[in-house]
Amino acid sequence: MNRASLLPRRRLLQCAAGTAAALTLLKRQAFAAALERSGLGQAYKNAFRIGAAVSTQALSQPNSAELELVAREFTSITPENCMKWENIRTGDDWHWDIADKYVAFGQRNHMYIVCHNLIWHSQIPRSVFQDANGQPLARNALLAKMEQHINTLAGRYKGRIQAWDVVNEALDEGNGWRKSAWFNQIGADFMEHAFRFAHQADPNATLLYNDYNTHLPKKTAFFVPILRDYLKRGVPIHGIGMQCHHGMDYPDMRDFEASLKAYIDLGLEIHITELDFDVLPARSNTADVGAGGQRNSAELDPYKDGLPEKVAVALADRYEQLFTLLLKYRPHIKRVTTWGSYDGMSWKNDFPVRGRTNYPLLFDRQLQPKLAYQRLLALAKTL
Ligand code: GLA
Repeated sequence: MNRASLLPRRRLLQCAAGTAAALTLLKRQAFAAALERSGLGQAYKNAFRIGAAVSTQALSQPNSAELELVAREFTSITPENCMKWENIRTGDDWHWDIADKYVAFGQRNHMYIVCHNLIWHSQIPRSVFQDANGQPLARNALLAKMEQHINTLAGRYKGRIQAWDVVNEALDEGNGWRKSAWFNQIGADFMEHAFRFAHQADPNATLLYNDYNTHLPKKTAFFVPILRDYLKRGVPIHGIGMQCHHGMDYPDMRDFEASLKAYIDLGLEIHITELDFDVLPARSNTADVGAGGQRNSAELDPYKDGLPEKVAVALADRYEQLFTLLLKYRPHIKRVTTWGSYDGMSWKNDFPVRGRTNYPLLFDRQLQPKLAYQRLLALAKTL
């Protein structure tokens, strides 16, 4: 125990020795300390942070059960939606309320606070890319708009948060750069500009590139030389966010490990940013948000009445397999964040098929820990 943690207790005893008030306070402190020691985040404290994406709904309510769960079990947070362009601003009007609550919640709970995201092709109004006549903005005008957005948003939370997802999903599944408006109107260097602007706005923040299917050999082979060049030229990029929207039979874990090693070899931090396991039948393994909206059917939604034991065990196996691999590389892994905290609020209930009952996370619809959670807790005991 360090000196600093002893001081308040000693001072408390000096001030009010023997009084009932002091005893109550001490009890409260002990309770708070016990709470601090519980949870998955605490169990993995010597390996990496355990994080969760926090919903806007939870941040908007007083006494949210979701926030209580997150505060108890996780040591890092990511905002699910409240910092995305379409939510945080309308034209030049900024809507800070929920984002401010998000950062305050993280600070109150001493969390590793991730902000998500600065530059993405999705959840952004088309008008951002157009001039007053609806024509595509020229390169310099769009770059200026990018700089202003990053400065305002990253500048507001400067020094209070730990990491930014600077650019999200700029690569196609295996065909090089995604042909987004950012890419089409600025060129491939839009990405390095975004990182430079973010570094200017918050020089101490860890800056990440975040994407899905980062394990695909074609995607890794395209991206690694770009990253190497960035690092050589001093583009301020510090880590890779591997989203990890996984399923019961994908990805191929050999591909996954190979890509993990390739990013580690560059000297980048690894952040597992959006982990979930889809247990339902799927037509494809993409997490491209453009692939959503598929029609539901009984055959695509087999576990409406509950998750069969066999599937719960298989899901626990998948979590354990991934965590075992990540522990092997733990000096390079900063955190493992699940996309959401409990099954009832997961995007996987509506993607890629709307209105299904999915079970991708570590806590069930009653916010109770699942078998997968118990397995991860047991695995942590072997550390
Ligand atoms: C992507 C984004 C996230 C989120 C998920 C789906 O992975 O990075 O912000 O929108 O899709 O919910």
